[in-house]
Amino acid sequence: MTSQGYLSELFSLDGRVALVTGGSSGIGRAVAGALARAGAAVVVLARKEPQLKETAEELTEQGCRAGWVSGDLGTRTGVRAAADAAAAVFGEPDILVNCAGVNLRPPMAELDERVWDTTMAVNLEAPFLLGQRFGPGMAERGYGRIIHVTSQQAHRAFVHSGAYGVSKGALESLARSQAEAWSPYGVTCNTLVPGFVPTPLNARLSSDPEKVAALAARTLVGRNGLAGDFAGAAVFLAGPGSAYVTGQSIFVDGGFSVH
Ligand SMILES: NC(=O)c1ccc[n+]([C@@H]2O[C@H](COP(=O)([O-])OP(=O)(O)OC[C@H]3O[C@@H](n4cnc5c(N)ncnc54)[C@H](OP(=O)(O)O)[C@@H]3O)[C@@H](O)[C@H]2O)c1
Repeated sequence: MTSQGYLSELFSLDGRVALVTGGSSGIGRAVAGALARAGAAVVVLARKEPQLKETAEELTEQGCRAGWVSGDLGTRTGVRAAADAAAAVFGEPDILVNCAGVNLRPPMAELDERVWDTTMAVNLEAPFLLGQRFGPGMAERGYGRIIHVTSQQAHRAFVHSGAYGVSKGALESLARSQAEAWSPYGVTCNTLVPGFVPTPLNARLSSDPEKVAALAARTLVGRNGLAGDFAGAAVFLAGPGSAYVTGQSIFVDGGFSVH
């Protein structure tokens, strides 16, 4: 067997369909691109159409299969409608990446019910509902990969973690519950845990050079994350080679969490 053939057995996503929420920006966009280049037909899902269109067009120009769906994951009806629309593009997904997220972190005493509800809806409830929508079908077909994107704040308090940290901690628990339910049927469920990655999500923090440098110094690698740093781990978790990895939280953070 050629090395190419061996690598394909481990990592190829040819013939698979992937849905990436938040796939129009930052980490999600890089993950969507990685899965598409590894062979999957990818649907990106978020709200803003121009970014979605641009992402899908860029991948299509590179010879990938890519489509997009605009939907709001902040409401239950929005999630249901978006899930149906996404499945209509290339068929029911074999790979679900829950990367859409919001980062509303007022100081604890100012954290009101609106911030709590929005955070839980997008960061936790949408991944749960999408799992309920697609997990059983994956199990029935005998192959599935659910990948959530959490945060170091699932593990420790950090700069007003507030509701955000709670949502991410619960999301890692959700991954374990899903893993318990569906791993016997070929569906693995894991989370990717970023450190600090300058993206539109944290525009305010990433525009402060001193804070950015201080965060880089806390890693072992010596720099902050890039969206592209998630490509390899995402392809691994989406592909056949990770069949025995489930219920895990995989830190892609340059060593931030162990320093
Ligand atoms: N960047 C970091 O340092 C970092 C650290 C730890 C964890 N994370 C996590 O990584 C994930 C991606 O973050 P990022 O930094 O790449 O952020 P980003 O560039 O701001 O991307 C967020 C994505 O989520 C989508 N989104 C937000 N609200 C939505 C809604 N109601 N319905 C549908 N889509 C929605 C956005 O698109 P629209 O606005 O068009 O809807 C966008 O595509 C998040 O879950 C975040 O919590 C990031």
